[in-house]
Amino acid sequence: MKTEDTNKWEYAPSLEGTKHIQLKEKYDLFIDGKWVKPNADRYFASINPANEEKLADIAWASESDVDLAVKAARRAYVDVWSKMKASDRAKYIFRIARLMQERAREFAVIETLDGGKPIRESRDIDVPLACNHFFYYAGWADKLQDAFPNRSVESLGVAGQIIPWNFPLLMAAWKIAPALAAGNTVVLKPAETTSLTALKLAEIIEESGLPPGVVNIVTGHGDTGAAIVNHPDIDKIAFTGSTAVGKLIQKATAGTRKKVSLELGGKSANIVLEDAPMDQAVEGIVNGIFFNQGHVCCAGSRLYVQESVADELVRKLKQRMQSLYVGNPLDKNTDIGAINSKEQLETIEKYVQIGIKEGAEMFQVECEVPTKGFYCRPTIFTNVAQSSVIAQEEIFGPVLTIQTFRTIDEVIQKANNSPYGLAAGVWTDKGSRIFNLTSKLRAGVVWANTYNKFDPASPFGGYKESGFGREGGLHGLEAYLK
Ligand code: NAI
Ligand code: MG
Repeated sequence: MKTEDTNKWEYAPSLEGTKHIQLKEKYDLFIDGKWVKPNADRYFASINPANEEKLADIAWASESDVDLAVKAARRAYVDVWSKMKASDRAKYIFRIARLMQERAREFAVIETLDGGKPIRESRDIDVPLACNHFFYYAGWADKLQDAFPNRSVESLGVAGQIIPWNFPLLMAAWKIAPALAAGNTVVLKPAETTSLTALKLAEIIEESGLPPGVVNIVTGHGDTGAAIVNHPDIDKIAFTGSTAVGKLIQKATAGTRKKVSLELGGKSANIVLEDAPMDQAVEGIVNGIFFNQGHVCCAGSRLYVQESVADELVRKLKQRMQSLYVGNPLDKNTDIGAINSKEQLETIEKYVQIGIKEGAEMFQVECEVPTKGFYCRPTIFTNVAQSSVIAQEEIFGPVLTIQTFRTIDEVIQKANNSPYGLAAGVWTDKGSRIFNLTSKLRAGVVWANTYNKFDPASPFGGYKESGFGREGGLHGLEAYLK
């Protein structure tokens, strides 16, 4: 049935089953190929943000646990991994990819339960892409010399990797796969709200027979991350997360031998020119900002529309927003799931209030959302000034600011007027305009007539306060080599 007022089809719920998943009540640390209790015997709860129920207790690693993990990684590096034939290393990485693929349904459901993202996204994007990263880098492991001709390539040693909660399994894959392929060993810390798929990955790593200590997974909060950053026997720090923590890491590693790559926040511009295919652009805008509840570092959170088509585009966008499903992430109809944590929901709500106070005009979809759990209705702001807080700061939620422009030069200036430089989108019918804009936008990735598309073979990363270093493709491999 289609309802008159919202233009939305009413579907019966179609819930993904959870009977096939296996979760322990309590997870220890995965160090040196074994599950070990944290020295301080401290644990914290991981909850399901869609209903606030506890899923499992997770070990909280302290400095001494991190030290054990780094020592295990060093031993594994010196004694086994750096001596192994590259083609044998490749076989292990392939095996991890295959095992993940076999258990894809379990990974997808756990990712959705622990993080709040719609099952459609974890099933169709996060998990397959994570597997593909392992496949892709497995292929390079014994071809490093071909990848970088006329240069001598050498692994770095032990990599400390700290990842965020927006793409938990995918970020683990982005970090672990190239590190292993380049011959390094790893100590990885998942984010405190989303440790479960990294721990599941540890189970698969165990099953794959990977030599003990090559990959160690230590769970915990920010202090656990800091213990990794400050450990003297780490050769490389790879971090994805907030700009604030990125700056702390840069300070802490300055003057040390540690090689660092940082992938931080963004406030990416999505630019619609007057000759753009409007319906396609609307889909791209929706995908750019509402995908994964806007918990995307490269989210297209600033929309710039050419003045002559602005009214039409905003009308179409509002209409499209009315038909988005907000609700239970396990429902296959859901477009927008739960916000990852109560803290993040409060941050988003704070910015919405700032936007209203700044005098921007808000439009929010009037749909029902579950009473338990953390939900945010898709929101857009029009009448936004370039200098306003909501157009400058990263909100990391389903909140879009919309501004208009008249000339191309004006929009280039506006788009580049940001402390960030991670991604951008351009919508136009003309290839020449695409090339003109892509060469002038200061962003690591520029999508043309699409948005939020990822592939293991293409590098990703930012300029300015969005960080430095590239992940994915050969660039991602280089980050783990001398
Ligand atoms: P965060 O930067 O605090 O967390 C990311 C990871 O860093 C987590 O694993 C955390 O435990 C760890 N961490 C925290 N403090 C640390 C420290 N001092 N040393 C080493 N590791 C540390 O991000 P948070 O607080 O979860 O989110 C805050 C904001 O950051 C979000 O609202 C969003 O704007 C941005 N963010 C950006 C992400 C991106 O993909 N670029 C991902 C997550 C958040
Ligand atoms: Mg959780």
